[in-house]
Parts: sequence; structure tokens; C-alpha cells
Amino acid sequence: MNKEVKYSCPSNIALVKYWGKKESGTQLPANPSISWTLNDLRATTRMVISPVVNGESPTVKFYLANKEKPSFLPKIETFLKRVTPEFGWISEHHFEIYSENNFPHGAGIASSAAGFGALASCLVALDGQWEESDPVFWEKASKFARLGSGSACRSVYNEPGLWGEFEEVLESTDDFAIPYSGSIHPNLQGWKDAVLIIEDGEKSVSSTAGHALLKEHAYAEARYKQAHKSLSALLSSFKTGDVQQFIEIVESEALQLHAMMMSSIPYYVLMKPNTLEAIEKIWKHRNETLIPMCFTLDAGANVHLLYDGRYHEQIQNFINTELLPYCQNGLYLCSDTGGKPIKL
Ligand code: PMV
Repeated sequence: MNKEVKYSCPSNIALVKYWGKKESGTQLPANPSISWTLNDLRATTRMVISPVVNGESPTVKFYLANKEKPSFLPKIETFLKRVTPEFGWISEHHFEIYSENNFPHGAGIASSAAGFGALASCLVALDGQWEESDPVFWEKASKFARLGSGSACRSVYNEPGLWGEFEEVLESTDDFAIPYSGSIHPNLQGWKDAVLIIEDGEKSVSSTAGHALLKEHAYAEARYKQAHKSLSALLSSFKTGDVQQFIEIVESEALQLHAMMMSSIPYYVLMKPNTLEAIEKIWKHRNETLIPMCFTLDAGANVHLLYDGRYHEQIQNFINTELLPYCQNGLYLCSDTGGKPIKL
């Protein structure tokens, strides 16, 4: 008998960055990271399974926006293989997976976090051992999402997702993300993210290749240490509401991520001239208006403008008058922070 389930899952943006994997294990982070989910940038995935009969080999079909995409299969098959030791039934079923993103394809947004978060939620729901109200449901979803794409494990909580062993949070683990349960000052609640699409299309260096370059990187150990310090200071800013401190850490983390790319061998640069133009404008506007806002970057050219949601209108005006010229086709996407997978 066929069974099916459908989940939508948000993307996430890291405040303290994961960059580099441990040498042993599968997708274990070399340093702890933390992120906000992006409630309005989501992948929706319908998973249909049917039992394998008469010695058939199990098959997987993947559709993105209703088009069959065999090119995605190697990643998805690897993901399913990695989850099979926990969910043996996977190897006894055919899979049909229908996925779509609510943001334009090729907008240069990391869709893998939302995509693997949705896939992992579907698997845990189909397995049926845990209810959504049981925290183990989300620990498993987070762990499996991690096995698809590391940073995806932080996409399953409303609260900031904290992933990786961190000395100040006893429950933290490399295995899956946990919801940050400490207090968050009102100054740092209700922030939004405007993603300025500086350049769409594929990145010139994949993040898998980027992580691998840290193995021989001259600054890797120093960077991992710094990430612990950043996380400690970031959590302190959450508690005290020190927006200055928050901004300093988030921007420094973004630049450190790109500095690691620029100082690996082979070195590479993912920022574009318009990335820097947009950053300059953000700094200038912040100095002039004192609006709580800062930028961060993913492994790409796009600029994430994080800002206090109470200033939404002023920021929309700022984007429309000063930042749009730097966006490819004048495109930017706005999202609330927070949000988690939803069963549909
Ligand atoms: O999840 P991956 O392997 O695609 O790594 C992405 C890591 C960054 O997005 C660059 C940073 C982060 O912590 O999300």
C-alpha cells in the first residue's frame, strides 16, 4: 500500500558560521554554529512510498517544481542510504519525491537546507515512531537533515538552532541541532532578513568543496577557536540585548567565512563588486539612521540584510531607493526569522 506525507520546511541563515567538518564521522561540524530559520523561504516536499515487491530493486524518483530531475538523485540516494541504518524500511520501498521552493529557482538561495529539512521531516513522520509533540521527532529530523546537508539540521526549530558541541551549553551535540532555550532580549526578537540577490545561478565552488579545503588550511584551528568565542559572545548579546555586540559578531562571522575561502589553497572569492557596494551602503545607512541592522553572507555573493522588524517600512524604503541597483534584476526576498517545518 502506498503511504504519503507532505511537509514544508524553512531555510536558515547562520549568525555564527559552520565552515569545516570533523575528519571522522559523517557531516560532523568542526565548530559550533547557530542560525535563525527564515519562515518565508520554504521548500515543500511530498514523499510517496510504496513497498518493493517480487524482488524488485527499490527506485527513487525526484521532481522539482513538477519536473523530473535525475541530476538530484545522487545526493538524495546518498541521503537515504545514510538514514537506512536507523530506518531499515527505507531499503524496502520505492520513493517518489515532489519538491518545490517558494522562492525563485536559481535565485542563489541555499535551498538545500529547506529541502533536506523537509525530506527529513517526511521520513520521521512516515516512520511513525514519534509524534511531533515528542522532542525526539525533531532531534531525528535534525539529525537526518544533517546527513543530507550539514546546515539543514538547524532548520527544524522556531528557536535559534544551535548545532555542534559547545562548552557553555551542556545539551549541545554534533549529532543534531537543538533549539536554543536561553532568554532572548526583546531587542533581538522579531528581526527580519531581506536577501539581496546580487547574483543568481550556481556557485563557482560548492560548499562541499569549500569545507574540504579547511583540512589543509593554515588558519583552520584559529578559526574554529574563534567560532567558539563568537558563539559565546552572541549568546551573551541575546541575553543582554546588546545590539552593538550582536552586529559586530554577525558581520565579523560573515567576513571570516569569506576570509577562509580567500585564504585556502586553492583560494577563491565568491563576493562580487555589488556585494561590497551593498555592504558599504548598509554601513553608511546604519551610521546615519542608527537603525538596528547588519549584513551577513552565505557561501555566495548574496547579501542578507538582517534588521529589527519594527523598522520594516524604513528598511523597505532604503532597499528600494539605495540597494536595488546592486540586485540582479532588482530582486530581493524578504522573510521573518523563526518558523519550523509544518505538516501539510
Ligand atoms: O550545509 P552546507 O554543507 O551547504 O554548508 C553551508 C555552510 C554555510 O552556509 C556557509 C554556513 C552555515 O553555517 O550555514
